[in-house]
This record gives sequence, C-alpha cells and structure tokens, in this order.
Amino acid sequence: MTDLDVIPTLSPEEIAEIEHEVALIPRRDSAAIDALMIVQRHRGWVSDSSLKAIAALLEMSPEELDGIATFYNLIYRQPVGEQVILFCDSVSCWLRNGDGVKEKLSELLGIDYGQTTADGRYTLIPVPCLGACDRAPVMMVGDDLHTHLDDCDLASLLTCEANHD
Ligand code: FES
Repeated sequence: MTDLDVIPTLSPEEIAEIEHEVALIPRRDSAAIDALMIVQRHRGWVSDSSLKAIAALLEMSPEELDGIATFYNLIYRQPVGEQVILFCDSVSCWLRNGDGVKEKLSELLGIDYGQTTADGRYTLIPVPCLGACDRAPVMMVGDDLHTHLDDCDLASLLTCEANHD
C-alpha cells in the first residue's frame, strides 16, 4: 500500500477544502493545522486513519503531523462529547475564583479535564486565556462564550445550554 492509498479515507469535500488551503501557501505541509481543523469540523475529531490520510495528502509523515496535532489542544485525537467546554486555565481567571468554578463544574458533570460525561454530552478541556480576562472567569460551551462565571449559576447555565440545541 502506498501513502496515497489512504487518501480515500477523506471525503471529496474534505480534500477540496484542504486543497483550497494548500493553494494559498507555498508548502503543502504548512497547511497542516488548517487541514486538521477541516477534518475535525467534518468528523468531530481526528482519528489515526484520518491523520494518516491528511499526512499523505500534505506529503508529510504521520509522525510529523501527529506531533503538530498533539501540540495543539484544540485538535481532538480522540472522540469528544456533543459539546466541548473550553475552560480558561490562566491567571486572570485564577484570581477571580476560576479554580473554584472549575471544581464546581467538575462536580456537576462528574468529569475532570480531558474527560467526557457518561452520556456523551460534554468534554471538558483546559485552555490558556480565552481573551476575555476583564470578564473572568470564563469558559466556552460549543461556540458560546460565558463570562463572569459564578459557581452558583453553573447548573442553570448548563441547563440553558442543553435547551439551546
Ligand atoms: S485569563 Fe481567563 S480569559 Fe484571560
């Protein structure tokens, strides 16, 4: 099997979107992060076979691409829940009881960082600064930014997010 044989693992749409990014830059491997994000947007995460297919398409080794994928914590190398909670784990949020809010969130969901709830609904991931330090503590649930978090409000906030879908 040649490296190119694994490319069919990707859909024609995924390949077209990746090739569109490749066309904008001088080197194919420079599109690595964009390509990983494209596949993740289509599939929710990047499996080993997807990773190999992307690497072949970008003419790089799977090991090289995996090094990039694992460096960025927003590339998911294992399945995640229906919604990913990105919880800010940086100084401005710590100073405003971010740790306390995170503890309460973990207690409510029954999971810690890197884990997914038993019902498959949420995955909790720590992220460095979400860029809303003046409104700390902060987290994102899916595409929604939640600011001025208060551990008392978390349960109702998660209920609202669940009804939001
Ligand atoms: S430190 Fe939390 S948003 Fe910046």
